[in-house]
Amino acid sequence: MPSIEDLLNHYSYTKQDEENRRKLAELILPEKEQFASDFYAMLEEAPYTAQFFPTQEAINKRKTTFKFWLKIILTSPFDHRLHLKLERVGKTHVRIGLDGHYVNASMNFVRRYCQQILFQSVSDTRSMDSLLETLNKVLDISLDIMTSSYREAELKQVFLSKRAEYWMVRWAERIMHGLNLVLMVGLLLLAAGVTALLSTDIYFALSSDVEQGVIRALGSLLILWMMVELLHAQVEQLKGGKFHVRIFVDLAMVAFIRKIFVASLEGKDPWSFGLLIGALLVLGIIYFLLGHSEKKQPGAR
Ligand code: HEM
Repeated sequence: MPSIEDLLNHYSYTKQDEENRRKLAELILPEKEQFASDFYAMLEEAPYTAQFFPTQEAINKRKTTFKFWLKIILTSPFDHRLHLKLERVGKTHVRIGLDGHYVNASMNFVRRYCQQILFQSVSDTRSMDSLLETLNKVLDISLDIMTSSYREAELKQVFLSKRAEYWMVRWAERIMHGLNLVLMVGLLLLAAGVTALLSTDIYFALSSDVEQGVIRALGSLLILWMMVELLHAQVEQLKGGKFHVRIFVDLAMVAFIRKIFVASLEGKDPWSFGLLIGALLVLGIIYFLLGHSEKKQPGAR
């Protein structure tokens, strides 16, 4: 918020305005009782503003503080102390959770009320114009200082939410990286398991049944190949590469092919066999469609 001197400069507040302010005080302050009552009546009309005055004590306090405000903006020297007082009014409004829109709207009521008083008591057009100009400057400066608390509160909120956002993104990135590493370790362990499975299949082929053993080993080899593909995709992604959904379809296809190998050895009935082949066909179509759409995307491998 600029200093009071800067504010007066920005609103082109002159010595003439200071003189006019004294005249405004003479004309408006005698009406302050009625003014405070009408101001309160206006606040009472809208349900939102009325809820801030649940007791008679609150109503009386409101009228007193309004008269106090009217007096200080028309008679107190425009200095640092007045600046602080008006800032405190703004802070009070922010503290009670009053929507700043209502402060702006009620200032419009104040402006029209003061103008009416002037219209009724000043006949000379030139001095009327000059008084109106000063009145507008005084009310605008006051509103500017009072609403600065709202702007500060909003800035604080934006700053806080930006910081929270920044920390959340940082932590999410770290957790994601950690989970990716866990996935990588899981894949490595699984690859080791599949290698062990391949070894037992080869042992089975050599020690018991060559035909069954070779076919089972072929299935295990397919899975091992898939594991290598998955590990490759994971390493690529850790390096910042693109994620390919197609890899999951690859995996499912390999699992079904292995199942067909095993089913052929176990001599399954034609229905089960047909179902497995049908599922493989569906996966093949999905694989084809995904490959087709990936090719269309820019930057696709
Ligand atoms: C031109 C607009 C307004 C002016 C000049 C004004 C002025 C003031 C002043 C001088 C105070 C005393 C601050 C303090 O001592 O800390 C105050 C407090 C208060 N104002 Fe306003 N006000 C305005 C608009 C409104 C509006 C629209 C409402 C709507 C409900 C409102 C509700 C209140 C309330 C409830 C308090 C008392 C807070 C407490 O309990 O301490 N004011 N206002």
